[in-house]
Amino acid sequence: MHAEVDSLRRLHADYYLQRFTSPRLVFEPGQFIMVKPSGCLDPFLPRAYSILRVQRPGRQATGGKTVVEILYKVIGKGTTALSQLKRGDRVDFLGPLGNGYRIPHSLTTALLVAGGIGVPPVVALAERLARSQFTIHGSRRGKTGHRSSVIGRLKMVAFVGGKTRHDVLCVADLRKAGATVHVATEDGSVGHRGLVTDLLESFLRSSDNGARTSASGSAELTVEASVEPSSVFACGPHPMLHAVARIAKRFEIPCQVSVEAEMGCGFGACMGCVIPTKQSAVSSQPSAEDRIADSGQPTAYKLCCKDGPVFDAQEIAW
Ligand SMILES: Cc1cc2nc3c(=O)[nH]c(=O)nc-3n(C[C@H](O)[C@H](O)[C@H](O)COP(=O)(O)OP(=O)(O)OC[C@H]3O[C@@H](n4cnc5c(N)ncnc54)[C@H](O)[C@@H]3O)c2cc1C
Ligand code: FES
Repeated sequence: MHAEVDSLRRLHADYYLQRFTSPRLVFEPGQFIMVKPSGCLDPFLPRAYSILRVQRPGRQATGGKTVVEILYKVIGKGTTALSQLKRGDRVDFLGPLGNGYRIPHSLTTALLVAGGIGVPPVVALAERLARSQFTIHGSRRGKTGHRSSVIGRLKMVAFVGGKTRHDVLCVADLRKAGATVHVATEDGSVGHRGLVTDLLESFLRSSDNGARTSASGSAELTVEASVEPSSVFACGPHPMLHAVARIAKRFEIPCQVSVEAEMGCGFGACMGCVIPTKQSAVSSQPSAEDRIADSGQPTAYKLCCKDGPVFDAQEIAW
């Protein structure tokens, strides 16, 4: 499929915001597209980019097409080639691909964790949650003595990290979506000096068992205890995702991570994006392709492009 460059904006340093006019596209936050300039032979293979947002301008503006937005960092040939395109240039475009973040029905607090260029799917999720106007279900006695079933809006707390302040992206977008945003940089040029996972950990520690109890505290509020009230949703470099998974496990909070493995095709044909997952979390019947990892834990291999890129953090054999 083909799409056309609608606009290209250099944000700062090597970061670009690019829009494509594509045939009508509907996506789930976490899904991605494969893109390369049409006719480009070097690189020959397209590259993967998370969908940041999709807009549907009026039919007159785009003839019913959608405008798909991505945010990327120029690191090699593929991203350089994209950053040199002009409005109207054609690209080979495939998507949406993969799965998206699963939104638990009873979610009360979304803890969003983004590292560097991992921020686009996290922003997409925040904007989706804001638009969906997710509500916390429970009960509250009103002035008339009647109980209502909806007691509040979903709370979003975002943790955004980068090496320097130039690598901290989309803070304004997350705030606009209604999230409280905490920032960390490794060089301390903005926010907390250190890792974004420090912020997540200290937030959970100070909230005493995390946001699981965040909607309580008022004598009038009762949040259903049997449900899954808060969840972590993360995207970023692999070591960051691993650290987030460990923290979530320690605080017993469900956690989904979007894994950015290197990809060839994006739809399950090349086997270039396998990641090890825990057999026990996948199936009780080991297949011929299963292996026993060094840790002694049975491992099954999954495709990041087809089975992911979003995985339950505890499913991955880190
Ligand atoms: C599902 C998914 C979503 C992604 N979303 C985004 C996004 O929204 N914005 C963005 O900037 N990037 C994103 N990426 C990463 C992006 O695909 C790579 O940055 C891109 O392929 C680099 O292409 P290149 O030709 O410029 O660099 P290359 O020349 O291909 O690579 C340059 C260097 O980066 C390494 N590298 C390439 N891809 C990856 C990767 N996925 N993870 C770690 N190291 C890698 C290579 O090994 C090499 O050392 C995503 C990747 C996946 C799988
Ligand atoms: S990228 Fe080809 S199988 Fe996943």
